Amino acid sequence: MGVVLLVTAFATDYWVTASPQSVTNNSTSDTPDTSNSSFGLFNGKQYLKYTTGDRSFPLQALCNATEGVCAYIFLRQGTEPRAKLTELIQEYKKNGTASSGLGQIEHGLFSFALWVCTIIFLSLSIVMGLVTIGFSVFNVFGRPIETITGPMGLYLWNGLSLLLTILTLSLFGALYGGELSQNFLMFEDYKIGWRSEGHTSLGYSYFLVIGGAGAFIVNLILLYLSGHTLSCSYAGSGEKEVDNGMILY
Ligand SMILES: *[C@@H]1O[C@H](CO)[C@@H](O)[C@H](O)[C@H]1NC(C)=O
Ligand SMILES: *[C@@H]1O[C@H](CO)[C@@H](O)[C@H](O)[C@H]1NC(C)=O
Ligand SMILES: *[C@@H]1O[C@H](CO)[C@@H](O)[C@H](O)[C@H]1NC(C)=O
Ligand SMILES: *[C@@H]1O[C@H](CO)[C@@H](O)[C@H](O)[C@H]1NC(C)=O
Ligand SMILES: *[C@@H]1O[C@H](CO)[C@@H](O)[C@H](O)[C@H]1NC(C)=O
Repeated sequence: MGVVLLVTAFATDYWVTASPQSVTNNSTSDTPDTSNSSFGLFNGKQYLKYTTGDRSFPLQALCNATEGVCAYIFLRQGTEPRAKLTELIQEYKKNGTASSGLGQIEHGLFSFALWVCTIIFLSLSIVMGLVTIGFSVFNVFGRPIETITGPMGLYLWNGLSLLLTILTLSLFGALYGGELSQNFLMFEDYKIGWRSEGHTSLGYSYFLVIGGAGAFIVNLILLYLSGHTLSCSYAGSGEKEVDNGMILY
């Protein structure tokens, strides 16, 4: 169950949703702004209601590891993502040091390290979740002997899955709280007055990961409870166990 939630989160594009506002002109804020964006770890889509016409195009996360930054590139017609990212980085380098105070975030750039670690830890959570399932099945149908494959092992695998999931949540939480919630729009849109701060929220994909963590917690509680009932019935079956042992060896 936890694994299904994590995989779904991985594949969906609703980690963050937003309704960017145009603040260049007071008069535009009177009309309800219908612009909206949503994106996941890799892709998304955005609809910006420019004065010159509506623009609806996909978003694509793209990184330059050398520079340690990524951006959600708004794929307008004729936009070459790689060139656009390089342009954003160059603009940031030119303006970033200026007194304008426009930093990395205003240019739509965000931390490559946090992004890539989120993906790595989410992947590890999924792998560890699968390992947990494997050993659970083995415990039900197999005859667990070693501690690592037995009931104690299940605590370990579930615990590790939970830990990795919480790390994933923290990493993306840091990325969102520190950078994306302030601005994710490309500089050329930011420059002409598009703002997303205060109009951005975490989407359901992120809550699926929280659900995944919840599922691992439930597993641990169930393990604990079943451990108690096991130890109760264990006393009664003690003699039988000895018999089995005699037959086996
Ligand atoms: C604000 O809107 C008015 C009328 O729509 C326009 O004349 C003016 O140039 C706009 N101002 C800016 C800063 O965009
Ligand atoms: C909008 O107009 C108010 C006054 O009506 C002014 O104080 C404010 O700075 C204006 N905001 C922008 C973004 O132009
Ligand atoms: C975004 O706004 C457009 C135009 O109003 C609308 O067609 C679209 O359904 C909206 N998308 C979302 C996810 O709200
Ligand atoms: C990353 O940025 C550096 C310096 O701006 C540039 O030389 C390099 O080609 C870029 N890498 C990619 C994959 O775009
Ligand atoms: C940042 O640099 C671009 C050109 O690369 C320029 O058009 C823009 O006005 C600059 N913005 C600020 C705030 O300095």
